[in-house]
Amino acid sequence: MEKKEQLYEGKAKQVFATDDPNLIIMHYKDDATAYNGIKKAQIKDKGELNNKITTIIYSYLAKNGIPTHYIKTLNEREELCKKVKIFPLEVIVRNYIAGSMSKRLDIPEGTKPSNVIYELCYKNDALGDPLINDHHAVAVGACTYEDLAVIYDLTKKINLLLIDLFKSVGIILVDFKIEFGRTNDGEIVLADEISPDTARLWDEKTHDKLDKDRFRRDLGHVSEAYQEIYARLERLAA
Ligand code: TMP
Repeated sequence: MEKKEQLYEGKAKQVFATDDPNLIIMHYKDDATAYNGIKKAQIKDKGELNNKITTIIYSYLAKNGIPTHYIKTLNEREELCKKVKIFPLEVIVRNYIAGSMSKRLDIPEGTKPSNVIYELCYKNDALGDPLINDHHAVAVGACTYEDLAVIYDLTKKINLLLIDLFKSVGIILVDFKIEFGRTNDGEIVLADEISPDTARLWDEKTHDKLDKDRFRRDLGHVSEAYQEIYARLERLAA
């Protein structure tokens, strides 16, 4: 399998074609951005750590019946994945209130809501990835209602599996963002990364933040937090 031209470059990753039209290579960078690209920096070893963390999480989800784009990890920064057409949607799951929901509705961070909260954002840089609802998603052509039913079903299962996984290593899964794509065979699968870039992860005992909020909020020890998440998951996976 041969690495070919770059198909796409995002804020934290690049996607390369391969000589197989059904496969792509995802490359993890150390670049970090926040607030829609206004804040930018490099986080030492982030690419390698997010690749390793995503590998452990995707392997665990696949073992538990979740269809994903992941095939195998090629090296410290690259994964071989199925080529998918990504739905232009960010699916956000909140088990505890934090971040934008805390600000928008003036609810203290760490509050546990009576129900799990699902949000959709429309992936559109020019619009700043606005929060939308199911009907907007269908109206703008991002997906169909049938697609959404599959996406929500998978998202609920993924949330339960991830809560368990992180609980077993002493971490509270506060919230996270996932994305879905459709393979060339028409299957809807989980795609993109799951890492401290895309989830809020708090230590169960101290409530220390072990995720990208350390970068967003200038809390320091960013790389160390990602390292800590990897170390705990690696021990479990070993
Ligand atoms: P928020 O509180 O800023 O809306 O973020 C909720 C969760 O989703 C948090 O874990 C960060 C993640 N997220 C992303 O990974 N990418 C994004 O573009 C957004 C808006 C959130």
